[in-house]
Amino acid sequence: KPLSSRTITVSLMKRTKIVSRVATSTSGLASFSSVSKNSLTRSRDALPLRHEMPIKFWSRLIVIIGSTSCQKYSSFSSSEYVSSLNRQSVLAASGAMLVAAGTLFAYNGTEQKNISFTEALKIPLRIVRHPSPTPATVKNEHVCEEAKPITSLPIYTAEQVRENDGTNGKPIWMTYGGVVYDVTNFIPNHPGGSEKIMQAAGSAIEPYWHIYRQHFSTSLPIRLMEDMIIGRLDEKDQNEIDSAICSISDEYAMEPKHHAALKINSVEPMNAETPTNRLTDDYLTPIDLFFIRNHHPVPNLSDDYIKNYSTKIDLSEYTGKTIKISLDDIKKMDKVEIVATFQCSRNRAGDFNKFKQTSSNWNDGAISTAKWGGVRLRDLLSRAGLDDPIAAEKKGFEHVCFEGLDGMMSSIRIDKATSQYGDCILAYEMNGEPLKRDHGFPLRLIVPGYVGVRNVKWVSKIRLARTEAEGPWQRGLNYKILPPSVIDAKAVDLDKMSSVNEGSIFSGITKVERCNDLGKTDKAFAKEGDSVLVKASGWAWAGGGRNIVRVDLTGDGGKTWSTAEIIQGDNQKFGRAWAWVLWSCELPATVGKDEKVEVCSKAVDIAFNVQPSASDHNWNVRGLCNNSWFRTKFKVN
Ligand code: MTE
Repeated sequence: KPLSSRTITVSLMKRTKIVSRVATSTSGLASFSSVSKNSLTRSRDALPLRHEMPIKFWSRLIVIIGSTSCQKYSSFSSSEYVSSLNRQSVLAASGAMLVAAGTLFAYNGTEQKNISFTEALKIPLRIVRHPSPTPATVKNEHVCEEAKPITSLPIYTAEQVRENDGTNGKPIWMTYGGVVYDVTNFIPNHPGGSEKIMQAAGSAIEPYWHIYRQHFSTSLPIRLMEDMIIGRLDEKDQNEIDSAICSISDEYAMEPKHHAALKINSVEPMNAETPTNRLTDDYLTPIDLFFIRNHHPVPNLSDDYIKNYSTKIDLSEYTGKTIKISLDDIKKMDKVEIVATFQCSRNRAGDFNKFKQTSSNWNDGAISTAKWGGVRLRDLLSRAGLDDPIAAEKKGFEHVCFEGLDGMMSSIRIDKATSQYGDCILAYEMNGEPLKRDHGFPLRLIVPGYVGVRNVKWVSKIRLARTEAEGPWQRGLNYKILPPSVIDAKAVDLDKMSSVNEGSIFSGITKVERCNDLGKTDKAFAKEGDSVLVKASGWAWAGGGRNIVRVDLTGDGGKTWSTAEIIQGDNQKFGRAWAWVLWSCELPATVGKDEKVEVCSKAVDIAFNVQPSASDHNWNVRGLCNNSWFRTKFKVN
């Protein structure tokens, strides 16, 4: 919308004074403590939290004190209570009531308002400084600066912004919604890769975010950018940007329809998980419940385009030749079927976040299995003239690069691409049906045993190369697992760090139910400390084709272990186990305070790799490849 007609929803903190008097009775003396606005302000200085945090902090504190005081006095029987009714208990009871009122007050401390964009610019802006702006630090803010009204910042023209495009050592400026940002220091930490963000150097971000709408899934991008504000964009220039945006067609207008049960993480582009409780209902995931991970709009191909669809196989650097092969011709070649599990490297990033925030928030449903039908990649490469991959490799051609119609690029090593035992295919079928648009129609790469991102969809180009594919998905920060100590990518040389290729070892629990030793539902009430029998079921998968040899489960934090029975997927070839196994296990579990048991699983593969016990062992800022013990809680009563 044009700037002048935009409105913005703002949360405003009510300037109320929260006073709650809490009476506590110790050694017969009533003492009072007060929580006032002044102490909030003081504590904010001491504990530098965002403006909304102290409210929540104090509310929680008040609730704790209130409930302690209530618990103390609720232990009196009514007759004792009357006889022992004294000053302290009256004070304590009324204190507790005030606590409740104070809490309500505190929780209602903000109000939401719709205001115009121009009005919004006048609101004093709290500028938050992070030592290095990465998604991991934004949640752990350190220093707050004085609030500054944005109107006091200088106004720049689009021309002035254009001059700061990072060339010849100049800073890198960008604009968004009438605000000018200096993003120079953020470039290496951009989750989508430096190349992508540099496209907007010296210009407006709006046209890019119009496509990369994942920036709107959470407020994180805008919050990260608060730190980089340096000025305002001339209103006339912003209006021009707005009208240009209005004339851009909406590339998401023709997105495919999706099953209502998918757990959506972002709509544009579509990022959706298979619901955990349905993950292992079938060995092959039903197509419409298969997780979806798109970085861009799904290519919307015309009938004509589909009819004439062909893939380019470019060996020009090696043999001087490039061929184009049509889909019809591909379908005439020998067909193979490979059952393979895909797991997005982001699966279970949410578990990392419980330990420390990463830049991702996927839960445990970014994994699915399908039977892929298509033609071997080695056959296609051979048809283009690559008969002797070993000779090509000796001459330095170590990589096969792929490009999707959406511009996504990725590569794999030549040995995996051409090995008879690597089982890489270009698929046009999924579970016996033609590929769906979301999953790469008309042609997608399947690299069994590798993480999801290497399975390029909508393949339009295959190229033999001396170096890995360009772009953020192969060379950039996007799919690089940084050491746990690194939150700022500037601290490492990304070129020297390997991208994620083969998956490691993973397992997941999809269902837990209570049973007795006859396998029937056990309805007896179980209290804290009791041991109950539960039946858990789930999946396990290892990358690189490594078969699963065992899945171990514990219901008492690892003191005792039970081994699961593998129900499906145990018959895969040695070293070519591309798909998951499904398992089930009965095990004793100890009931905790909340009437819940915690059941954990860890798998072991043929190389005897084991999952680590906790997420902090392999935490990384991008939230990739969390393979710690899978932990789930289940209420037994
Ligand atoms: N290929 C293209 N061309 N574009 C993409 O966005 N996403 C990748 C990979 N291939 C992607 C792609 C990622 S990150 C994953 S996890 C898998 O596709 C997901 O495949 P799916 O959507 O069929 O489940």
